[in-house]
Amino acid sequence: MVRSGNAAAATMLRAMRSFLGDNDMMAYLAMMAVRLLELHRVLKPTGSLYLHCDPTASHYLKILLDAVFGAQRFVNEIAWKRSSAHNDGAQGAKHFGRITDIVLFYSKTDQRTWNPVYTEYSQEYIDRDYRRVEPDGRRYRLDNIQGPGGAANGNPYYEVMGVSRYWRYSKERMERMINEGLIVQTSPGAVPQMKRYLDAGKGIPAQDMWTDIQLNNRAKEKLGYPTQKPVALLERILNASSNPGDVVLDPFCGCGTTVHAAQKLGRSWIGIDVTHLAVGLIEKRLRDAFEGVQFTTHGVPQDLEGARNMAARGRDDKNYYFEFEKWALSLINAQPGNLSKKGADKGIDGNLYFGAKHEGRAIVSVKAGENIGVSMIRDLGHVIAREGAQIGVFLTLTEPTRPMITEAAGAGQYEVPGLAGAVPRIQIVTIEQAMALRDRAVRLPALRQDSFRRAAKEEDSGRQKAMDL
Ligand SMILES: C[S@@+](CC[C@H](N)C(=O)[O-])C[C@H]1O[C@@H](n2cnc3c(N)ncnc32)[C@H](O)[C@@H]1O
Repeated sequence: MVRSGNAAAATMLRAMRSFLGDNDMMAYLAMMAVRLLELHRVLKPTGSLYLHCDPTASHYLKILLDAVFGAQRFVNEIAWKRSSAHNDGAQGAKHFGRITDIVLFYSKTDQRTWNPVYTEYSQEYIDRDYRRVEPDGRRYRLDNIQGPGGAANGNPYYEVMGVSRYWRYSKERMERMINEGLIVQTSPGAVPQMKRYLDAGKGIPAQDMWTDIQLNNRAKEKLGYPTQKPVALLERILNASSNPGDVVLDPFCGCGTTVHAAQKLGRSWIGIDVTHLAVGLIEKRLRDAFEGVQFTTHGVPQDLEGARNMAARGRDDKNYYFEFEKWALSLINAQPGNLSKKGADKGIDGNLYFGAKHEGRAIVSVKAGENIGVSMIRDLGHVIAREGAQIGVFLTLTEPTRPMITEAAGAGQYEVPGLAGAVPRIQIVTIEQAMALRDRAVRLPALRQDSFRRAAKEEDSGRQKAMDL
C-alpha cells in the first residue's frame, strides 16, 4: 500500500538525508517538508497546489510531494520556459542553456476545481490551417460535417446542395447554418463543408510545456525584485484551478505576483513572506496597481509601539535588526543598500533614486537606537559628500534632539537646476512620521521616481471578503 502524510514524508526525508548528507539542499527540503504538510492540511478538497522550483530541486520536491499528497495526487509536471536566452547557454559554458523552471501540480482529491485554459494558436498553425480569408479579413478553415459512423451512430441522412450523405447535424440545424452562410461547396458536386472562423476558436488547450509566458528584463511589470514571476504565469494557474471568490495562498510570495494575479481575478488571497522587504514591496505594488485596494498586513508594526518592539528584538538578533531596517526603508519606498546597484557601502542603509532617469540619489541612514546625536547627522553629511549624492535622509525611531535639527538645517537646501522647489539637503524623518505619511515623509525635488518600479494600474475585480485570520 502506498502511504502518504506525515510519516511518509519523514521516511522520505530520512532516505534523502542518507543520500545527500547534511547539506544546504537537505536543509531546504526539511524546511519545505513541514510547510508542504501544513499546506496539504489546509487545502480544500477541491484545491490544488502548484510548486515552482528549479531543476536542481524539482526531483527531490516531487518525491516529497508524492509522500505528502500521495503519488496518485500528482497531476502535472509543467516545464516553464522562463527566458528565451540565458547566460548559462553563452559561449564557454559546457552545457545547454538552462532556461526552464519546473512547476509541480498536485491536488488534494480527484474533485479538484478545473477550468480548461487555452493558449493562442501559433502563427505557423494559423498559416497552415486557416488559409482562407473573408473579404473583411476574417480567417477560416473548412471542416468536415459528415456524420462519423453513419447510421450506426444515429446520424441523419439527407441531401445538402445536391449531395446526399449521413450528416453530423439535424436537418433544421443544417438549414440554419446554410442561411447563415456557414456551409459552402468548393465546386459543383463537392461534399459541403463548414466554415470555422479563427476568431471563434478558443485556442489550443494548454499543455504541460509553457513557452509563451516570459518576464524579460525590459518587461513593464518588472519591479526590481530578483525572483519576480510574470503575472500571466500566475493568472494561468489561478484561472485553471480556482474560481472567483476562492481563497489563494502563496506562502513564499516574494514581491507578490500571486496576490496581484489573485486580486486581478477576483480571488481572495493570503500572501506570506519572511522578509519585510517583500511585504513592503507588495503593499506598494497593490496600492499602485489597484485603486482603493483593501488588505490587512499582519506581523509588521502597526504603530510606534510595534516599531519599538521590533527594534528591541533586533538588538539581540542581527538578522532581525536587518528586517527592522528593511521595514523602515519600505515605509518611504527606499531600496535597501545591499540591493543598490552600487553595492553595500559604509554608512548607507538605503537609497532613494529620483529624477526622470534616476539621476538623483538620496542616501538613507536608519537608526533604531535611543542614543542618537549630532555626530550622526555630520556623518551622514560626509557620506553624501563622499558618494556625490544630493540628499541624506536620517530615518530615526527616536525623536531628534534640537542640536541635531540645527545641524541638519545647516546642511542647506538642494535645488535641481531649472526646477522650482528647493528641499533640505539633510532631512530627519521619524519612523512615526514615515508610518503616517509613507513616502510623502521625504521631500524630493521634482517628480518623485520610485526606487522599486511602480506597478501598472489594473482593473480590480472586487474587494476581498474578510478572512478570519
Ligand atoms: C522565489 S521567491 C518568490 C517569488 C515570487 N513568486 C514573486 O513573484 O516575487 C521566494 C520567497 O520566499 C521567501 N521565503 C524564504 N523562506 C521563507 C519562509 N520560511 N517563509 C516565508 N517566506 C520565505 C523569500 O523571502 C522570497 O521572497
